Amino acid sequence: MSRSFKIGVLAAAVMAAAPMAQAYEAGDFIGRVGAVTVDPDSSSSDLNSNALGVLPGAQVSVDSDTQLGLTVTYMITDQIAIGVLGATPFKHDIEGDGAVLGGAGKLAETKHLPPTITLQFFPMPSSSKFQPYAGLGVNYTNFFEEKTTSTLTGIYDDVASGGAGGVVASTDLELDDSFGLAAEIGMDYMITENVGVNAAIWWADIDTDATINAYAADGSRVDSSTLDVEIDPWVYMVGVSYKF
Ligand code: NI
Repeated sequence: MSRSFKIGVLAAAVMAAAPMAQAYEAGDFIGRVGAVTVDPDSSSSDLNSNALGVLPGAQVSVDSDTQLGLTVTYMITDQIAIGVLGATPFKHDIEGDGAVLGGAGKLAETKHLPPTITLQFFPMPSSSKFQPYAGLGVNYTNFFEEKTTSTLTGIYDDVASGGAGGVVASTDLELDDSFGLAAEIGMDYMITENVGVNAAIWWADIDTDATINAYAADGSRVDSSTLDVEIDPWVYMVGVSYKF
């Protein structure tokens, strides 16, 4: 055997015999970056108008969006950790739904940030390259830059004027922040000592009170309506993990 071949065999033998470096243990930070999708399983109450009362079948739904997600896990012990989910702001269309507004299309849009913090449990031994986990915690969702469309303003104008037009000139939308339960399952698979792949799914209880105001051309308020909207999304992420 040549000298270099013998060294190669020796190196391979040493690597095979060496225990895999600790995968996850107390004190580790694991950061993950990837694509994260918020897929609402939304439903809403009927719109409740100050001027007209409850309008059966006037409902809304919320579409999905994908952004850049970032999660961080801090291992408190070898098996218990704190996890945080963050992302670039999501933008969702709010569409008409129900018997009355079902065909109306896009009525509004909103951005939101849904930071989520969970207590995570990693059942596998710390030496395992495969690290599934489950977490339970809370979600806080802050809605911002809510905007209504000319479609929504047109519907208000039609209703308020009996089809003649010229009563409602503009509308706006306000969505209350939401605070609720969140649950997650996920897994990391470490390819090298520090780099791995990650997949995770969350469910979050996100509910908001929507207030829609309608204004006349002179700025006076013609109507104020409210809706309870359940967004309750499934959140999916696939990405790359890095253990610090
Ligand atoms: Ni809910």
